[in-house]
Amino acid sequence: MSASVAPLVSSLYVHVPFCAQKCSYCAFYSEAASGELIQRYVSALVRELELVSADLRPTTIFFGGGTPSLLNLRQWEQVFGAMERHGLLGAQEFTVECNPATVSADKAKLLRDFGVNRISMGVQSLDEALLDRLGRVHSREMVFKSFDVLRRAGFENLNLDLMFAIPGQTMDIWRATLDEALALGSEHLSSYEVIYEEDTPLYAQLNAGEFDVNEELACDMYEELVARTDAHGLAQYEIANFARRAAQGGTLTSESGTALIPSRACRHNVNYWRGGSFHGIGPSATGYVQGMRTKNWSNTQMYCEQLEKGVRAIESREKLPPLARAGETAAFGLRMNVGWGFEEFLQVTGFDLRNEWAADMEELMHRGRAVKTSDGFRLTSHGLRFADSAAEQFLRTQETVIS
Ligand SMILES: C[S@@+](CC[C@H](N)C(=O)[O-])C[C@H]1O[C@@H](n2cnc3c(N)ncnc32)[C@H](O)[C@@H]1O
Ligand code: SF4
Repeated sequence: MSASVAPLVSSLYVHVPFCAQKCSYCAFYSEAASGELIQRYVSALVRELELVSADLRPTTIFFGGGTPSLLNLRQWEQVFGAMERHGLLGAQEFTVECNPATVSADKAKLLRDFGVNRISMGVQSLDEALLDRLGRVHSREMVFKSFDVLRRAGFENLNLDLMFAIPGQTMDIWRATLDEALALGSEHLSSYEVIYEEDTPLYAQLNAGEFDVNEELACDMYEELVARTDAHGLAQYEIANFARRAAQGGTLTSESGTALIPSRACRHNVNYWRGGSFHGIGPSATGYVQGMRTKNWSNTQMYCEQLEKGVRAIESREKLPPLARAGETAAFGLRMNVGWGFEEFLQVTGFDLRNEWAADMEELMHRGRAVKTSDGFRLTSHGLRFADSAAEQFLRTQETVIS
């Protein structure tokens, strides 16, 4: 009798839970920490890398946070050394998130030497007053300088993160930031509307009536974003993500008229949105392997204690029933311009969108937010603005199996 072999996992997310200081809007798990805790975390991470390495052959790796660029050269060497020992280097796409205040030529060179080939830099705004308001540790000048440092180190695939609908941001300020950011010529741009996350200073300010949310202005800013990125040669492929079109140009459409995914799209994130599996390590990281979703403890001390005992720091495991999982996969995929091909969705989930979700698709088309062709279904550019409510509609909640 032959033992069954677990399928290999081709994506790895690593969470680095430290920031120089906490931004006023951010609810990601991260803290300003001592050098001692950072060093303890690095040792624990090395242990966790070993624990997940057996079925892991990463073609995409993403170090996010937090601020991964906060790790020093020695700590990066320790992490890369462990990855090398376990055969985890050499991914096709290897992204590290950086804050413009923590990029140096030495660090950029080291990352490049170990196969990091994509950097995602948190810019948020190029207006000094807004950077201040957001609690960012960097100036606009640091953005330009760090971009240059990264290019000189040989990075040919750069992403910039921007935010819009920031309190105090006028349309003129937004246009100026967009134009300056686009002029840098990155291969990729991510741009998020501000989310007021509970337990953040920005949320408290909103509740205290210090400013109002202007929904109409936010919509106009989104339209401006879509128009200006398009004019600049970046194709929208997900509600908040834009990537450079192929050099030879041409429109990125399939026979059925649906948009294709540009080659500079973030493959790691595309894997999430298409329902692929991935390991997630580091405090608060989630993973999804063989239908099981795991979540690590959002507590760096606890995380380190567990790994020091030689076990993973998993807080919860959850296996969704097939229909609930399919609903989630539908919802994720609809965030992308390409939407879902009916056959592709059937293959990934075992369910047919045309049966289970027929009424939902009709309703969205009726509201002018979606298009159905003979082979697939997708939200329109206008409909993507409301992707979150469309996503809700596609969910099929059922009781989950917790182990
Ligand atoms: C996890 S952060 C990591 C980036 C890096 N730490 C930095 O900020 O320089 C990824 C991105 O999420 C976005 N983001 C974080 N909190 C947000 C919020 N409340 N609303 C909208 N976007 C947010 C920011 O654009 C940020 O760059
Ligand atoms: S936005 Fe980035 S730098 Fe700011 S607190 Fe969040 S993770 Fe840290």
